[in-house]
Amino acid sequence: MPVITNINDLKKIYERRVPRMFYDYAESGSWTEQTFRENTTDFEQIYLRQRVAFDMTGRSTQSQMIGQDVSMPVALAPVGLTGMQHADGEIKAARAAEAFGVPYTLSTMSICSIEDVAEHTNTPFWMQVYTLKDDDFMQRLFDRAKDAKCSAAVITVDLQLLGQRHKDLKNGLSAPPKLTVKSVSNMMTKVQWGLGMLGTKRRFFGNIVGHAKGVEDPSSLSTWTAEAFDQSLDWARIKKFRDMWDGPLIIKGILDADDARDALNVGADAIIVSNHGGRQLDGALSAIRALPSIMDAVGDKIEVHLDSGIRSGQDVLKALSLGAKGTYIGRAYVYGLGAMGQAGVTKALEVIHKELDTSMGLCGVRNIADLSRDNLLVPADFEGRWA
Ligand code: GLV
Repeated sequence: MPVITNINDLKKIYERRVPRMFYDYAESGSWTEQTFRENTTDFEQIYLRQRVAFDMTGRSTQSQMIGQDVSMPVALAPVGLTGMQHADGEIKAARAAEAFGVPYTLSTMSICSIEDVAEHTNTPFWMQVYTLKDDDFMQRLFDRAKDAKCSAAVITVDLQLLGQRHKDLKNGLSAPPKLTVKSVSNMMTKVQWGLGMLGTKRRFFGNIVGHAKGVEDPSSLSTWTAEAFDQSLDWARIKKFRDMWDGPLIIKGILDADDARDALNVGADAIIVSNHGGRQLDGALSAIRALPSIMDAVGDKIEVHLDSGIRSGQDVLKALSLGAKGTYIGRAYVYGLGAMGQAGVTKALEVIHKELDTSMGLCGVRNIADLSRDNLLVPADFEGRWA
């Protein structure tokens, strides 16, 4: 086994071990992938201020997200089909997060169901919720999350319809995978993955199959989103969801200051500045570039988190220094999961933790709460001056 020192090392192993269809699903952005690319490259435009001769002993990455203690403010983001990246993937990722002391967010589009993940973990996880037309399904999803003792609901508001990712269409993405000459010949080369899948019963969308009514092909993400998702969603309906769930609420998928103000008005506890990992509106700003104006608009009134583009502890440091109280990794842990199962997710968290901790020290900072814009060199026109 090669020595793993960074997230890209995990990605290389992941690419070899997981069927192409699921690698492509995770590793794609929509259309030209401009936003997907800029989510990571825009972090490179921000520099860290090196400071020396500051006492860096007793450093800690401990913090809180929505009032819950975290060993570092890096949660695992909801990722659809995680259980196709590795057998029982959601349970494995949730267990790694639990042991590390960071929140795990289960996707509505997971393979392992809410109940299944709850049964195999001890720490409450967060439940991501898509906005479907069917009010009964929505109420049941919130009720199931409550019964499973989920400690927050994360409502995703940037996927009323699915952005097009070319490879998913070309690959005929589904869960379980449809058996075609192309998919079978590729899967036959992924021996460990295949043995894991043969050894588990969890191969379908566990929160959907048997729970959602009138879905023609519940194995297909694109069919299901097109049939069941609410394209007429507005803030009044989001307020109804707020009333269906009496626990902490996080609204995910905010990229604009006006939308951030609306999220505040429905009574959310936090918002996630996110463009869905560059998977929805191609041509939108990167999340890190959208963050400053959203901080200016609502940063003193609501907790602001960020996802999309984080691949290192230095990226986490930059987002926190711009004012985010928490961050999320999606692909960065999926690479670890596909590469090495639960141990790979732990590895991804360890890598990011070490990068964050060391970089904090080299910036002369000992505590997360002390990070600020003072630790950064941000280009004057980073946010863009738009005519
Ligand atoms: C939906 O969850 C997606 O980004 O594929």
